[in-house]
Amino acid sequence: MLPSAELHLHLEGTLEPSTILELAERNRVRLPYADVDELAARYEFADLQAFLDLYYANMATLRTAQDFADMTDAYLTRAAAAGVVHAEVFVDPQAHTSRGVALSEVLDGVGTALAAAPSVHGISTGLIPCVLRDHSAADAMAMLDGVLRSGAPVLGLGLDSAEVGHPPSAFTEVFDRAGAEGLHRVAHAGEEGPPSYVWEALDLLGAERIDHGVRSLEDGDLVARLVRQRTPLTVCPLSNLRLRVVDDLAEHPLPEMMRRGLVVTVNSDDPAYFGGYLDDNMAALRGSCGIDDDAAEVLARNSVEAAFLDDARKRELLARIDAAVTGARPRN
Ligand code: ADE
Ligand code: ZN
Repeated sequence: MLPSAELHLHLEGTLEPSTILELAERNRVRLPYADVDELAARYEFADLQAFLDLYYANMATLRTAQDFADMTDAYLTRAAAAGVVHAEVFVDPQAHTSRGVALSEVLDGVGTALAAAPSVHGISTGLIPCVLRDHSAADAMAMLDGVLRSGAPVLGLGLDSAEVGHPPSAFTEVFDRAGAEGLHRVAHAGEEGPPSYVWEALDLLGAERIDHGVRSLEDGDLVARLVRQRTPLTVCPLSNLRLRVVDDLAEHPLPEMMRRGLVVTVNSDDPAYFGGYLDDNMAALRGSCGIDDDAAEVLARNSVEAAFLDDARKRELLARIDAAVTGARPRN
């Protein structure tokens, strides 16, 4: 695997079934599954909502800062093995505060593990709390307010959860505030929802990256805009397969997106639920979509270019990609 940045990763989506059961025992939370096999058998999803129902239910096992730190550190350990050298990770604060967990437990736990990541795992990091778009705008503003008041280091604000019927336009004020506070802005759009949601994310929320965005291909003017602005799309192939955005990986639009000049990156989204981490996603693309060494190099470079990093760190990571590519090339 080439050194890469991972830019679309939900920390709560890294909870493996065995970890969920361990946390349930640690925190004496009753789950409706007897064992790992019974839980794993539920990882068949008809669509995004079916996944989200299980994803939020399993979060009941996360209670303390230690739980959040352990979850984050387990992801970083696995990500390092996948070649990740920089990670900008999502967390869903409202999914925890709405069930009585203090925001400080979430931010302290995640923050402790992320702060240690450069020395422990050789990974630079950033945290992007996400607005749950199926909750109210007032809830979203309260979350942003709490995050800002906490003083926790955050890189940006994101938008996630059930997409269809929840357009970005509802959250204009919240994202305006985030921008005024100097946060980067990203949004899930064009996963299950129409291209118009991608337009709204760009025009109304000031999104600098679009998470997923695969349905952008349905709108030629939108593609032209994304190409012209070099707006990165954080694509998650195994997620799209498991949530039935595509029927078959061989039909995934990623190669077409690259051909049309879009700045595409590959990411794992919720790897514990969708069958794999960044390296697994790349292996699947190589196996099913004709992604070869040259395309893999473009994707790795795009991930660094699309990261919210300063130029010096980008140059350092691009040089590591160069070195890995040169080292891998057969000598003659
Ligand atoms: N939250 C976690 N994973 C998500 C996804 N793929 N789409 C929207 N919200 C999410
Ligand atoms: Zn996502």
